[in-house]
Amino acid sequence: MKVYNTKEELQGALSVIRDRQESLGFVPTMGALHEGHLALVEQALEENNWVVVSIFVNPTQFDNARDLERYPRTLESDVNLLETVSKKRIIAYAPTVNDIYQGNAKAERFDFDGLENEMEGAFRDGHFDGVGTIIKRLFNIVKPEKAYFGEKDFQQLQIIRKLVEKQKLNVKIVGCTIHRETNGLAMSSRNTRLDIEHKDEAPFIYKTLIEAKEKFGIESANKVTKWVVSQFAKNKLLKLEYFTIAEISTLKEVKRKSNKKQYRAFIAVYAGSIRLIDNIALN
Ligand code: PAJ
Repeated sequence: MKVYNTKEELQGALSVIRDRQESLGFVPTMGALHEGHLALVEQALEENNWVVVSIFVNPTQFDNARDLERYPRTLESDVNLLETVSKKRIIAYAPTVNDIYQGNAKAERFDFDGLENEMEGAFRDGHFDGVGTIIKRLFNIVKPEKAYFGEKDFQQLQIIRKLVEKQKLNVKIVGCTIHRETNGLAMSSRNTRLDIEHKDEAPFIYKTLIEAKEKFGIESANKVTKWVVSQFAKNKLLKLEYFTIAEISTLKEVKRKSNKKQYRAFIAVYAGSIRLIDNIALN
């Protein structure tokens, strides 16, 4: 499998694909790949002749320098994992910070119609400006027909859709379902950093989301939220940061349910020092 480190080299390879009029899908990642990422790559391979996978720990989306420093960087094993999916039709792009930012690693500021201020946006200052900045740059470099994002980061997925709409970018965004461990824990690069105690307890997050979904069928959003807060108050290992039931297009917290609208429950939890997020469709 080819791994390119500069946009010039990558674009050289991509121009050959375009000349042959073959289709191109794109899966942006920050590496430390796991089966959740691979599921996105597999879907992209089914729908396109070629798939570019970018592996880049984007500095402008981290609100915490220590978190950025500690983010796992495992390019060699990432490439090996991708090769288990396909040796021929995947192209990896692993640029340096300089290749992307030319010495000026600063985020552009975006207006995502308020999506950026809810949930993750409220707890991670400037995070979505950083995500918007890198995705806009990567779309410009790769110019894919389709790009694949996981519902694991549902708010991010909606923000990318908004970015494409507002900036009139010519790419189709495909959302992919959440990949879970058999115990229900949503797969994440952060899971490898959990100690054994927290790893054993972490499936409680999804278990609670499932129960919340059942309750949402018969109770108000407010009651369900209070119930979730009480469940976590009893848990000694997991600390709830937020639990929010929101309408999926605005991501605003639901006050009164309407059966014409679609809702999801979103959660962020600290398992020791590791922050985990998850979400579930409610109707
Ligand atoms: P990263 O966390 O590496 O995730 C890359 C893609 O994989 C995202 O679209 C994410 O939603 C998806 N993903 C991660 N875990 C998943 C799971 N368990 N099931 C399904 N999909 C999953 O998200 C980012 O990187 C960055 O913010 C990025 C978009 C690359 C911009 O830097």
